[in-house]
Amino acid sequence: MSDKATIEINGKKYDFPILVGTENEQAIDISKLRAITGGVTTIDPGFKNTGSCESGITFLDGEKGILRYRGYSIEELANKADFLEVAFLLIFGELPTKEELDQFHEDIKENSIVDDDIRKILDAFPKAAHPMGILSSLTSALTAFNPSNDQINNIDYERSKKALYDNIVKVLGKIPVLVTWTYRKKHGLPLEYGDNSLGYVENILKMMFKKPNKDYEENPVIVKALNKLLILHADHEQNCSTSTVRIVGSSHAGLFASISSGISALWGPLHGGANQAVLEMLEAIKADGGDTKKYMAKAKDKSDPFRLMGFGHRVYKNFDPRAKIIKVTADEVLNDLGVEDPILDIAKDLEKEALSDPYFVDRRLYPNVDFYSGIIYRAMGIPVDMFTVMFALGRLPGWIGQWREMRLKKEPIGRPRQIYTGPNHRTFKSVMD
Ligand code: ACO
Repeated sequence: MSDKATIEINGKKYDFPILVGTENEQAIDISKLRAITGGVTTIDPGFKNTGSCESGITFLDGEKGILRYRGYSIEELANKADFLEVAFLLIFGELPTKEELDQFHEDIKENSIVDDDIRKILDAFPKAAHPMGILSSLTSALTAFNPSNDQINNIDYERSKKALYDNIVKVLGKIPVLVTWTYRKKHGLPLEYGDNSLGYVENILKMMFKKPNKDYEENPVIVKALNKLLILHADHEQNCSTSTVRIVGSSHAGLFASISSGISALWGPLHGGANQAVLEMLEAIKADGGDTKKYMAKAKDKSDPFRLMGFGHRVYKNFDPRAKIIKVTADEVLNDLGVEDPILDIAKDLEKEALSDPYFVDRRLYPNVDFYSGIIYRAMGIPVDMFTVMFALGRLPGWIGQWREMRLKKEPIGRPRQIYTGPNHRTFKSVMD
């Protein structure tokens, strides 16, 4: 295998090193291209073929449908691990010992109190506000209540390390409270604090669903399903929201501010917002008589903006391994809870038709993680506009781990180039003249 690539520009040849990852992925390192060619740059809208960093966190092979966190397969983690164990793994690089995991959980619990003034900010939101907008704003507001320095600096590295750890456990402690408060406010329920005797996932469910003046009964089927969903969502290398978190953090903005931006990036229907969009699409098909063929035709019609939500992925071109796990989980959860959801049948019909339709086969469009996750969330009793918020909850360890890696590696500020296509120089003439 060659260790260099040669690019010829206007008859002149330039050599560039080739980087090889631990799974033998190759990348041409063009970081010096502009300097040595006197101003030539590259262009790649949507970064379809641009690596932004070297990362040791998540490996995925879109052709083979492989997804691994720190070397562990997603199938094994989803079926055997606890979400907090996976969070520790993603953030710090290795699975925790029992003592480390217990300490991590203790620290998260200790840091889960949310300042009462945050309640006042929450109260100021109109009832119709989308939960993702509320969550992003409240996460950003946390900065004002936690002004500790979460920068990593060379001068006082030990102090920085401690401040960073404190902020990590604060994010994992406080954001679930904000998520459940957002849900409770929308449903006119009094706000709940956590129950420190419970596991992380169990506590989230209790904070969300505990009815006033009623005992709360835990449902192990729902706990297991949420644990799995959170693990499946925990990281996905340099996707839109994670790249946002890294690029915001690259300006040395703090962890809360960076994660708040990640939440906004996740909100869009082409990314995490797809789980809400899928459910709304399935509902619309049902309300329209359940004619899946009609919607397949709309999805293929280039003059119609309709897309089959939950289908297609930037990197998975054979199957999304998370979708495989989630499809089985959706069946299990609906069976266990005795829920008969006609939406699931519509989803299965659409999937079947798409998998044998040349339009989808030729473009290698397969169901992604969001195609079935909404059906599970709905069976759990989570409202549609909270689906993406649940995704954000799961993605926290990934965002934190990627932010921490970027800062520890002292990556430079993210600042892409462009090719200017606007007017050439012209003279200003005021309308006032
Ligand atoms: N329905 C119909 N056609 C589609 C779909 C779809 N869901 N997805 C892609 N296509 C078509 C495009 O129209 C395009 O066709 P063309 O080549 O004839 O012009 C071709 O497939 C390639 O599509 P792109 O948009 O160029 O692919 P890209 O990699 O940029 O986008 C994306 C990937 C955004 C996920 C896209 O497939 C999509 O919009 N899917 C629906 C939204 C969705 O489910 N998003 C969740 C992704 S998973 C996640 O973020 C957690």
